[in-house]
Amino acid sequence: MMASSGPSSAEGKSVAVDAAVTRKPRILLAACGSTAAVKFPILCHTFSDWAEVRAVVTTTASRFIDKNTIPNNVVAFCDEHEWICWNKIGDNLLHIELSTWADIMVIAPLSANTLAKIAGGLCDNLLTCIVRAWDYSKPMFVAPSMNKFMWRNPFTEKHFMCIEELGVSLIPPVTTRSASGDHDTGAMADPTTIYSTVRFFFERQILKKKPGMV
Ligand SMILES: Cc1cc2nc3c(=O)[nH]c(=O)nc-3n(C[C@H](O)[C@H](O)[C@H](O)COP(=O)(O)O)c2cc1C
Repeated sequence: MMASSGPSSAEGKSVAVDAAVTRKPRILLAACGSTAAVKFPILCHTFSDWAEVRAVVTTTASRFIDKNTIPNNVVAFCDEHEWICWNKIGDNLLHIELSTWADIMVIAPLSANTLAKIAGGLCDNLLTCIVRAWDYSKPMFVAPSMNKFMWRNPFTEKHFMCIEELGVSLIPPVTTRSASGDHDTGAMADPTTIYSTVRFFFERQILKKKPGMV
């Protein structure tokens, strides 16, 4: 099953290398309504020490996240902002602006619901509109988080196959040991693993294109 595969789809993707050596990388972090969204502020802190970060949270994700714990240098957007930014024809569309702005998108946690929507091409909120408008020559990483029952559902594998075809890279969930001693898969990878996966990928891209750079 795809849980054992690494973030291989990122291979062959390019990042805005020239821009990124003269400015910080631009990372768009997004959170869905999984329990692991409580770790989203930690993820924002971790990435914002290295990169310029903007955040997108779904309506359900906002139930798990204490807005006050998002770092001040991270602007966080929710569905309402689409309509706050847009009043009339000719105004910019927030989902297009964000998808164009970012060098890399990271959805962590990715819920079963948003996974299914992305796999089916649905776009009914800010996050899924960004994904639908995404330029897949740029990398996108997802770190799923769901309980073992949702994880084992046959749809999970089908949907991951669809999004891997699009060019999305999976940061696999981890296996945890429950109180009863069972091993359960589906918990989101640790924020430091997510960060180091994305940063390692980014820096390897730069070194490949600009040998001699540190
Ligand atoms: C307390 C609670 C915890 C939940 N945890 C998860 C979870 O870990 N993973 C998941 O995929 N869905 C989880 N769900 C279900 C999602 O919140 C639900 O499918 C929601 O529609 C997801 O919306 P989003 O994908 O737009 O963020 C949970 C629901 C509740 C009420």
